[in-house]
Amino acid sequence: MAAGRQLIAGNWKMNGLKADGLGLARDIAARARAGTPACDLLVCPPATLIAAVGEVIAGSGVALGGQNCHAAEKGAHTGDVSAEMLKDAGCGYVIVGHSERRQNCGETDAVVNGKVAAAWRAGLVAILCVGETRAEREAGRAKDVVSGQLRGSLPEGADSARVVIAYEPVWAIGTGLTPTLADIEEIHRAIRAAIPSGARILYGGSVNPKNAAEILGLDGVDGALVGGASLKAEDFWAIAQACG
Ligand code: PGA
Repeated sequence: MAAGRQLIAGNWKMNGLKADGLGLARDIAARARAGTPACDLLVCPPATLIAAVGEVIAGSGVALGGQNCHAAEKGAHTGDVSAEMLKDAGCGYVIVGHSERRQNCGETDAVVNGKVAAAWRAGLVAILCVGETRAEREAGRAKDVVSGQLRGSLPEGADSARVVIAYEPVWAIGTGLTPTLADIEEIHRAIRAAIPSGARILYGGSVNPKNAAEILGLDGVDGALVGGASLKAEDFWAIAQACG
């Protein structure tokens, strides 16, 4: 993927049976083949659909990613998927440390750190998610929380080719709420100061076709991690069109 281009990544979460997921992938791939998007595109389907979606998007320029991985390469970890398995299934990326996993599955910074390292071991780009809760923002601690998560979750040796940071305020995910544009810029500046130069920093949390242009037009926003709006090809494409 070309450096300097924005990245629009779709996080499908636990959504989509075969018919929906493949239909969505076909629609996105057809638009990408026909339209030469001004950004890089990535879809992260649920694990059950990764291989099949990979076949559908092959040759379209749309990249494939997983939503999580285990830190180990293989072994007795019932129900888990390793970074090597994602790579083997055709992925180039994996999302790690999403707040839903930090909250619902008890993933600490140390656990997430191991997953980023696993992604690198397997040759995947890690999309590391960080972001404050509503209480933390109201207490004026957003920047400190994000900096702490970066320190704890990002292993030594990070470089721009292997890591993408996604700033996702927990209170903005799936709620229709977004920080002010100034607040997004402020946190992106703080992240920029803490990570390797050139690494992309995405904003995530209630990005939709209506707010995409103003968010993606901000200084220091190198793309978006999109949940709900990535489940409709038309909306995902409209967000991509807001780039550049
Ligand atoms: P949302 O999710 O776009 O539905 O708010 C974003 C995310 O969780 O990555």
